Amino acid sequence: MPRIVETIVTTMDANGTAHIAPLGLIEDGPHWIIAPFKPSRTLDNLRAVPYAAASHTDDVRVIAGCVTGRKIWPLTPTTAVKGARLADCVSHWELRVEEVIEDSERPRFKCGIVHQETHKGWEGFNRAQAAVLELAVLTTRFRMLPPKKIEDELRYLEIAISKTAGPREDEAWEWLMEKVAAWRQSLFDKSEGT
Ligand SMILES: Cc1cc2nc3c(=O)[nH]c(=O)nc-3n(C[C@H](O)[C@H](O)[C@H](O)COP(=O)(O)O)c2cc1C
Repeated sequence: MPRIVETIVTTMDANGTAHIAPLGLIEDGPHWIIAPFKPSRTLDNLRAVPYAAASHTDDVRVIAGCVTGRKIWPLTPTTAVKGARLADCVSHWELRVEEVIEDSERPRFKCGIVHQETHKGWEGFNRAQAAVLELAVLTTRFRMLPPKKIEDELRYLEIAISKTAGPREDEAWEWLMEKVAAWRQSLFDKSEGT
């Protein structure tokens, strides 16, 4: 399996409006592949404007926020390509689409890094950040995964939160748990036939 790096991807539509979404970039030699499932704004934007920025953030609230309807995070213009990146990030890549590999479910946009910058120091691994990342991914797959798998993983991830979270990780976890609560309620409503 190729290595995948979880980033915040910003793309632009033809009118110059920025769109932000967490996506896993797939390593492919010197290239990075953006693979959005259909339908997606990221996909539409990459077809309209073949550039993207990948921001590497240590603030997991951005990731949790994006999957819980909190998409307003400060952006700043990119340096070498048309676009925007997270204003507060550890580093970022500016990407140009070099090839599109079409697929009925998940086209792949093969990108080259045309510019990269580092903005601040990396503060090391934190288990709670990894737990937030995992739960954020799980909440985008409620419809694909058996409920028991989600509940089992949640129980395990909670350990890292209770032992190692700081305020940002706690806040991100709370947002995700609101989404989990809504999902549990929807399962209950379905079982009650309401
Ligand atoms: C860490 C993380 C990685 C993700 N990676 C992908 C991905 O590679 N492809 C994808 O389609 N969605 C991915 N998602 C889900 C997207 O962020 C989500 O579906 C998003 O809304 C994309 O659709 P949009 O471009 O219309 O906003 C990921 C979510 C998280 C939290």
